[in-house]
Amino acid sequence: MTLKEEIARRRTFAIISHPDAGKTTLTEKLLLFGGAIHVAGAVKSNKIRKSATSDFMEIERQRGISVATSVMGFDYEGVKINILDTPGHEDFAEDTYRTLTAVDSVIIVIDGAKGVETQTRKLMNVCRMRNTPVMVFINKLDRPCKDPFDLLDEVERELQIRVRPLAFPISSGSTFKGVYNLYEHNLSLFTSDERQVATASTVEIDDIASSELDAHVGERYAAQLRNDVELVEGVYDPFDRDAYLRGELAPVFFGSAVNNFGVRELLECFIRIAPSPRPTATETRMVEPDEPKMTGFIFKIHANMDPNHRDRIAFMKVCSGVFERNHNYLHVRSGKQLKFSSPTAFMAEKKSVIDFAYPGDIVGLHDTGTFKIGDTFTEGEKLKFTGIPSFSPELFRYIENADPMKFKQLAKGIDQLMDEGVAQLFTSCLNGRRIIGTVGALQFEVIEYRLEHEYGAKCRWEPISIYKACWIESDNAEQLADFKKRKHTNMAVDKHGRDVFLADTSYALTLAQENFKDIRFKFTSEF
Ligand code: G4P
Repeated sequence: MTLKEEIARRRTFAIISHPDAGKTTLTEKLLLFGGAIHVAGAVKSNKIRKSATSDFMEIERQRGISVATSVMGFDYEGVKINILDTPGHEDFAEDTYRTLTAVDSVIIVIDGAKGVETQTRKLMNVCRMRNTPVMVFINKLDRPCKDPFDLLDEVERELQIRVRPLAFPISSGSTFKGVYNLYEHNLSLFTSDERQVATASTVEIDDIASSELDAHVGERYAAQLRNDVELVEGVYDPFDRDAYLRGELAPVFFGSAVNNFGVRELLECFIRIAPSPRPTATETRMVEPDEPKMTGFIFKIHANMDPNHRDRIAFMKVCSGVFERNHNYLHVRSGKQLKFSSPTAFMAEKKSVIDFAYPGDIVGLHDTGTFKIGDTFTEGEKLKFTGIPSFSPELFRYIENADPMKFKQLAKGIDQLMDEGVAQLFTSCLNGRRIIGTVGALQFEVIEYRLEHEYGAKCRWEPISIYKACWIESDNAEQLADFKKRKHTNMAVDKHGRDVFLADTSYALTLAQENFKDIRFKFTSEF
């Protein structure tokens, strides 16, 4: 197969949702379709359950397991599908944001009873930043759900994206009859028995005006579907794939993941319309996937939790060319040539050494602490891929050394954990103290535990009251200098030496924004 053909048959995407909407269940059903797993429940082990928040060891154990399921690759009808898993726990949202930089599209799962929830909204913001094409799967139709039109309006309003239903449900909950596929004009009938197992049978209905429909779903629901379809066709423009690919329009499907209902339709449509690997931006130029020379970047680093194998795995997305085992590549940041004797690919639960990988594929690279998130590999060109965001953290604490004999170990540990993207480090301009900022409270525990167990260092936390940290920039050097002087007690620098303003309160931030008009206050930065 030529490079172009390999690229054309790849679909690299992530499934995202608010916890409990059904992401894990949907992932599992997709894997079952692809023959990548054979029993239900295989993906569950990867999940950080909500109940486990207090059981930190359990979370770490599960994070260890999740290395294997971080990427799930399989073939379906000649298409190579790479699903990038994202952590279910909100405290690991940063991991999810970064993973989204490595995907070419996204499927958003929404609970039909709950509608759009907080985490969905936040994740959609990240997709919007990158114009990532999104598809929506409204799940749990076997339970009483909100009205489908209300749900569509809610998605449009809350996620700020135009929608186009490609399927339409007939009722929900105990009277759920099935889903009418507006794309292929057929009807999938839902029949559920007491064991909660559903079977779907699909009937072709060329014309929903025919009495055949009544025979299948009953007069009342047939009439309702006819009305609904008329309304859909009247209100929504025909599906426009280009608008979807630009990230402006989201096709919407309805179904029930746990019952494996509506999932095949989603997958079939997905492989037809979802994009193959897209060009990737660097500081200097766009990299096209079919360029002959290999380029790729690291978007995630995973520490191995097995105490016998302390090493880390760095996940690289191949952006162009063909990645080969035992071939020398330039690690652009260090300027060193590196080759990998055992790069791995991920097939559902299994990890195996590979000889080649193509654009869209994710390669696992063995790392002894040299790599950072955002690192670029090339065949010699000095490129730097851009757009890997780090978000303004929301929780802050001073980190202090609790064991004076282990000063070096602590410094090394903090350094490496920050490279992995576990949290962000700021150094106060006022007193030189180190401040750790995170998006979730759990990260403080993760850091403390890992410093002790991986680096033999002990840390102590001390409270600090900060409302938000934001990066500041300005073309007006005078105003910037004035701001930094006046706000000296609230200034810090990040790991790369960039200026950061630590606002005490939302009021202080607003005031600063009003008084210093030439300064840009940024809530995201790049690695
Ligand atoms: P998440 O990864 O998005 O957090 O959600 P997950 O798939 O784990 O699903 C959350 C819960 O919702 C699970 O129940 C799952 O079985 C259920 N679920 C998923 N899809 C459907 C659906 O289509 N209909 C219904 N009724 N439920 C669905 P749980 O009780 O938390 O877990 P489990 O013990 O059933 O595995």
